Amino acid sequence: MTTRRLVLTRSAAIVGAASTGLLLPQITRAQGNKVRVGLMLPYTGTFAQLGVAIENGVRMAINEKGGKLGGRDIEWFKVDDESEPSKGVENATKLVQRDKVDVLIGTVHSGVQMGIQRVVRDSGTLCLIPNAGVHAATRALCAPNVFRTSFTNSQPTLALGKAMVDKGHKKAVWITWKYAAGDEAYEGFKESYTAAGGTIVKELGLPFPNVEFQALLTEIASIKPDAVACFFAGGGAAKFIRDYAAAGLKGRIPLYGSGFLTEGVLDAAGPAADGIITTMHYSDSLDTPRNKQFRSAYASQFKMQPDVYAVQGYDTGLLLSQGAAAVKGDLANKQALYKAMESATIDSPRGKWTMSKSHNPVQDMYLRVVENKENKVIGVAAKALADSGAGCKMG
Ligand code: PHB
Repeated sequence: MTTRRLVLTRSAAIVGAASTGLLLPQITRAQGNKVRVGLMLPYTGTFAQLGVAIENGVRMAINEKGGKLGGRDIEWFKVDDESEPSKGVENATKLVQRDKVDVLIGTVHSGVQMGIQRVVRDSGTLCLIPNAGVHAATRALCAPNVFRTSFTNSQPTLALGKAMVDKGHKKAVWITWKYAAGDEAYEGFKESYTAAGGTIVKELGLPFPNVEFQALLTEIASIKPDAVACFFAGGGAAKFIRDYAAAGLKGRIPLYGSGFLTEGVLDAAGPAADGIITTMHYSDSLDTPRNKQFRSAYASQFKMQPDVYAVQGYDTGLLLSQGAAAVKGDLANKQALYKAMESATIDSPRGKWTMSKSHNPVQDMYLRVVENKENKVIGVAAKALADSGAGCKMG
């Protein structure tokens, strides 16, 4: 749709130019001078609101820097990836081959990311990952042209296990969607929880994006663990929180999670979310001028509260604009562009962060609790946490 609108705008500009006597080739050259930015995000399905928050954040950061990249205007291209892994390669190819984007920003879902990774490794297109945490993207399949501004799937849960054992919860059930994001979140949880002396008594799962939780909640009730830990996100997370309470488990078996569980869903989940403890690289209540200024600007621009996805989108915009500024808009100067992005410090609402050697944020993980529709920070669960980057060879 956006592409169509842009085409119409362009022909309108050409008509306008002809009537003012300008030469067409000049116009064509000027248009060709725009930086072509592709957004490949979910705009439908259980992660739709995540895609919207990310796009809002990207645009907000770039607008704050004057709406240009390294002095050049921007032409936007959009693809709804539907969080559908089987269409990942095809959708990324649309942006890279058909739209010839200079940079592809995407995506949310780890399975779809694997398709993007294949396409951008082959084409060498600059790719900024504003969410999907799949390990391979910054481990075995890392690439000089791929930068992640979010997290790896095991980063939040590596900070979760000890926090639970510290609260006296020694026997836990783990539950998730069975795909890369859930499985890798489990890796982090298992490592941190068992190292702290906890025992995982049962691992439960259902296929993405299934939300028929009832049978699994009944099983949890019969196991009676000290606590439950999980990975869910988006619309499915809101339903899991409500179903957990409706099944009578809230207040009896404390619920913990990778912090996505309580991001962007607190209105939909209502009081059922109160008291849920999670670990995440952001918290609504971070008491810094940077976060407060970001939150009020975002709320007034978009008439909704920002969440971690909005922050990741915003940081993606910051990274891109810092990189583009360093090469004065010449994104073809890849060596200098990548160097600038590798050495960038991002002044994020989450706190300042830097890139690891494998192009993933080195960042603090906060311990948070839900209170009155807000993720309140109650401590720092891990300081300057870096992903291992295992198996990453740039080159
Ligand atoms: C992922 O698929 O990598 C993913 C999706 C949603 C999240 C976090 C990770 O909130």
